Amino acid sequence: MRTSRHLLVGALTLGSLIVAPTAVMASPAPPANPNASQHPATIGKDTLRSLAEEAGIEIGVAVNADLLAGNGKYRNIVNTQYSSVTAENVMKWEALQPERGVYDWAAAEALIANAEANGQVVRGHTLVWHNQMPAWLTGGDFTAEELRAILEDHVRTVAGHFAGDIQQWDVVNEIFNDDGTFRETIWSQAYEELGLPGEQYVADVFRWAHEADPDALLFYNDYNLEFTGAKSNAAYAFVQELLADGVPIDGVGFQGHLDTQYGYPDLRANLQRFADLGLEVALTEVDVRTFVTQKPNGTYTNTPADPAEAAQQVEWWAQTLEDCLAVEACNSYTVWGVSDANSWIPGWFTGQGAGLLYDTHNNPKPQYEALREVLRDAA
Ligand code: G3I
Repeated sequence: MRTSRHLLVGALTLGSLIVAPTAVMASPAPPANPNASQHPATIGKDTLRSLAEEAGIEIGVAVNADLLAGNGKYRNIVNTQYSSVTAENVMKWEALQPERGVYDWAAAEALIANAEANGQVVRGHTLVWHNQMPAWLTGGDFTAEELRAILEDHVRTVAGHFAGDIQQWDVVNEIFNDDGTFRETIWSQAYEELGLPGEQYVADVFRWAHEADPDALLFYNDYNLEFTGAKSNAAYAFVQELLADGVPIDGVGFQGHLDTQYGYPDLRANLQRFADLGLEVALTEVDVRTFVTQKPNGTYTNTPADPAEAAQQVEWWAQTLEDCLAVEACNSYTVWGVSDANSWIPGWFTGQGAGLLYDTHNNPKPQYEALREVLRDAA
């Protein structure tokens, strides 16, 4: 059994929460009041989170705040199966600062309160990303100096507001292109206009975040780092520079959005080389998509079209978790959504889906069983 960092946001320890030997499928029906939180006593001993605790790792899920508040079955899965939660959307810039200087904390605070009541840690996602920025920012006619001030204000305000509540922050998200070049954004452009290297904003935001919340582990998070190649090599060189410059970066998040039409990545080797730099690593957004069958009316199901690929999905889920567990510095493994009913995949990749652990009726799939098996073996 590995030892991992458990920075619980609540006063309770996970051990004290596991009082009933009830597996989740046998747990009581969700409370009649959809806003009542799932009582931690219903966490079974054979859930993902209880097995993960024995294996010494946090197991997390990206949470849709509306479903958490309004859907009892969804909330039951989140609270009984996972020891870590990530806000799927409500901690992004457009959600937290919809108008300039006007912050809206309500949805994120509700998510944190639910985590606290259920003894879960929270991954903060994300302080700086080129997507889901508010219109006032993307459409504003700001000078480079104003943009830098806006960036600093947002990072300090958000990290400071949630200080003490966040175990790991995705401080910057998706800063490299697949060809290994640094992504051009309004921030890199502003820095260049100020006569600074475009990448320098990254070092600044890590420093501001650390000053605002010295206890949170600060991560750079990206997709396609799983594969050795131009992108992960560039990221690897970049984080080495950050470390050499004394930038307070603690970890690198590997999103882990896999697709059965491509080969399985050399994930373990990549996790290990970043870990060998003295960093934490984490799988932060795992899902495994595949092609799904089409209905006569042209819309798509969430049933894999090819049984062989469906079997490969299950294997890849197990493999991602095994790869994380094989690397000492990989202490957190998060899946990107609860069920196929609320995954981002079908909306982004036409004809693909079935990427998560639960089906559209919130029933566990073979990939869920595969993860439990891996955790049992690791305990
Ligand atoms: O906020 C509007 C809402 O006002 C409107 O009523 C509704 C109608 O469709 O849309 C809402 O915005 C949606 C938003 O999620 C919040 O629900 C957007 O349309 C939708 O595109 C957006 O998708 C999110 C996506 O990031 C945006 O880039 C997904 O839910 C979320 O899973 C996804 O997550 C990202 C990670 O943050 C970073 N890594 C990749 C991952 C998958 O794309």
